[in-house]
Amino acid sequence: MHNFDEHINRLGTNSHKYDNQKQLYGLSPQEALPMWTADMDFRAPKCVVETLNDLSTNGIFGYYGGQESYNNAVKEWYQMRHGWSFRSSSISVVHGLCAGIAIALRAFSEESDGVIIFTPVYHSFRNIVKQNKRQLIEQPMYIKNNEYHIDFEQLELNMTGNERIMLFCSPHNPGGKVWSYHELNKVAKFCEKHDLILIADEIHNDLVYKQKKHIMFPIATPKIKHRLVVLVSSTKTFNIAGGLMGNVIIEDLTLQKKFKQAHKAIGTMPNLFGMKIAESVYSHGHGWLNDLLDYLEKNLLLFDEGISKIQGAKSMKLSATYLAWVNFSDTGLSEKEIIYRVHKTAGIAASIGSTFGKGGETFMRFNLACPRANILSAVSKLQHAFNKSSTNSRS
Ligand SMILES: Cc1ncc(COP(=O)(O)O)c(C=O)c1O
Repeated sequence: MHNFDEHINRLGTNSHKYDNQKQLYGLSPQEALPMWTADMDFRAPKCVVETLNDLSTNGIFGYYGGQESYNNAVKEWYQMRHGWSFRSSSISVVHGLCAGIAIALRAFSEESDGVIIFTPVYHSFRNIVKQNKRQLIEQPMYIKNNEYHIDFEQLELNMTGNERIMLFCSPHNPGGKVWSYHELNKVAKFCEKHDLILIADEIHNDLVYKQKKHIMFPIATPKIKHRLVVLVSSTKTFNIAGGLMGNVIIEDLTLQKKFKQAHKAIGTMPNLFGMKIAESVYSHGHGWLNDLLDYLEKNLLLFDEGISKIQGAKSMKLSATYLAWVNFSDTGLSEKEIIYRVHKTAGIAASIGSTFGKGGETFMRFNLACPRANILSAVSKLQHAFNKSSTNSRS
């Protein structure tokens, strides 16, 4: 069993989460516990370290080649864990899924074409769409039974006919929702009806807790493969995001050709280090992942139990991801005051809800992939910050 309780110093290791926190939030890691960006404070599986040790012993770091073993490892993983089979030629390796989204936007739409996203959602969706000069159509989701739902009728009313792409997050970040077979089919039907390319970002597909089963789009909705682009990666699952690699998997040959052309146009090749460590986890990471999910589930239970003791705060039902999405709306506090209490009073650098788009304003997102001692400490600090009298607050 991997020791997830180990405290590892990440400060000064060129970590985005630790070494950019002060610049981004005005909070140093000494004054506020880093619980924002989605990487874990856990050492990666042993196979990753061994792979990098072997590479460094060899001492030659030239261009990467011979991708067949990587492709086979990816295919075996998806066959075994998700029941999905595809050809090696369906895989395009990109420098991270954000890059994959950008390439797909360029391959399947023109400037000023509409791209639909459902908010609140992973903040980069919005940025990438805007930076590629596509028109962003933000459809806020609604909450029922403490989870997100999509109002397709409202979306239809908001549409202009200029929409070309739907960018969909499954499982959902930040809501932690595993979409049902029925819901995935509704998404697919909508894309059929409006002739949209569906870009399915399934990066969190392996971080799903026991009571739920993630269904991949190609399994749930095989009939729409001619408009389906699937994004998957080992980076979130195994804490190797610094390797910046991911897979864009397209089974339809016409779409595949278009994507590959747009991909070639940016002139990149797979990164040696990223590819080697990704192959190692796809081949040897199953046991580590099972242990990780057990550990995270306990963190999640403890965190939710603690949050439930804060009057007016509520965690969304988390079936996937290690990112708790907490609604502080019933505290009656303003957005500014919520942020102040979490960041300054509690001393926790959690992600700000409104950065995930419409509907996120009263939420904060907490990364629970850290040693349990940090969870206990965070819960106690939050309880203190919110349950104490408001006379000690910012205003
Ligand atoms: C839904 C989603 N897509 C993509 C990414 C980033 O992927 P990458 O690091 O491969 O660009 C994240 C990171 O948190 C994410 O949550």
